[in-house]
Amino acid sequence: MNNMKTKFIFFGGKGGVGKTSMAAAASINFAEKNKKVLIVSTDPAHSLSDSFEKKVGSEVINIYKKLYALEIDPKDTVKKLENKVNEFEQLKRYGLSDVFGMMDSSPGIDEIASFEKFSEFINSEEYDIIIFDTAPTGHTLKLLSLPDVLDSWIGKLISIKMKLSMISTSIKRILRPNEEPCDETIESLKKIKENALQCKKIMSDKNRTSFWLVCIPEMMSIYETQRMMKSMSQYDIYAKGIIINQLLPKNIECSFCSTRRKMQQKNLKFIKKVIKDCDIKKIFLLKKELKGIETLKKIGKSINLN
Ligand SMILES: Nc1ncnc2c1ncn2[C@@H]1O[C@H](COP(=O)(O)OP(=O)(O)OP(=O)(O)O)[C@@H](O)[C@H]1O
Ligand SMILES: [Mg+2]
Repeated sequence: MNNMKTKFIFFGGKGGVGKTSMAAAASINFAEKNKKVLIVSTDPAHSLSDSFEKKVGSEVINIYKKLYALEIDPKDTVKKLENKVNEFEQLKRYGLSDVFGMMDSSPGIDEIASFEKFSEFINSEEYDIIIFDTAPTGHTLKLLSLPDVLDSWIGKLISIKMKLSMISTSIKRILRPNEEPCDETIESLKKIKENALQCKKIMSDKNRTSFWLVCIPEMMSIYETQRMMKSMSQYDIYAKGIIINQLLPKNIECSFCSTRRKMQQKNLKFIKKVIKDCDIKKIFLLKKELKGIETLKKIGKSINLN
């Protein structure tokens, strides 16, 4: 039964290392295997459109076979979150609009948008696989502590609510002192908490969710990958694998390139030594830009995720 549920794949890594290209290539490869796939990007630069050479937008569109794509503007997600929070009268009073105003330009907002979409699809079985071009890292993974935070929030809100209702409906309280307070706010908060708990469970379930980190064979990128793996492990999330992108091929004639290749090969050995318990895939630097369905098909086949 579990095998029929939607699987989630996140691609993460430093800027410009090839996350979008690898996510797009993997998605095409799944479509080739007749899977129904949705690829989601939260990059306002609309890089999926460039990669597929087809306009992708805020509505799901078909790309190739059973592959669909969606590009979300993180600012829309902030608006959605703000509306959700403003449903709670108690919170509205604190004038959180300034905070949301700052949020839509803060770093990590694209990751939050991915997370938000993830939570929307956890109970849907519409797609076999949903691929996210941005993996939540660092601060955003803190969202996984939401159930614990909400626990204390809920506790506080319930007690405030009880005090208020004791004053306003004191007679009723005297008549029925043991009655549990129950209103829509408390019920909604409980629902948010349940959803967050479920997200946490699915995100750390290796059978449902996998994380692929993309890096280039340079020490700065490798160190960043190690840091990312460490921060993920604090939330019981482990990378399934690493894609080392933009490797230079053998037999290169120019001395500049062969010197770089030597450096890359040395760094590759280092990666294999320090990064254990996850797959390592290698992708070579192409002569041309990595885009368009045909090129993505070839790269997708080399990565061959399952
Ligand atoms: N193996 C490769 N060979 C040739 N070009 C590549 C390769 N991998 C990526 N590129 C090119 O590098 C550029 C950056 O790739 P991409 O947009 O996938 O990176 P990214 O990690 O998603 O970037 P960002 O952090 O900005 O979202 C693109 O122009 C892409 O075509
Ligand atoms: Mg990208």
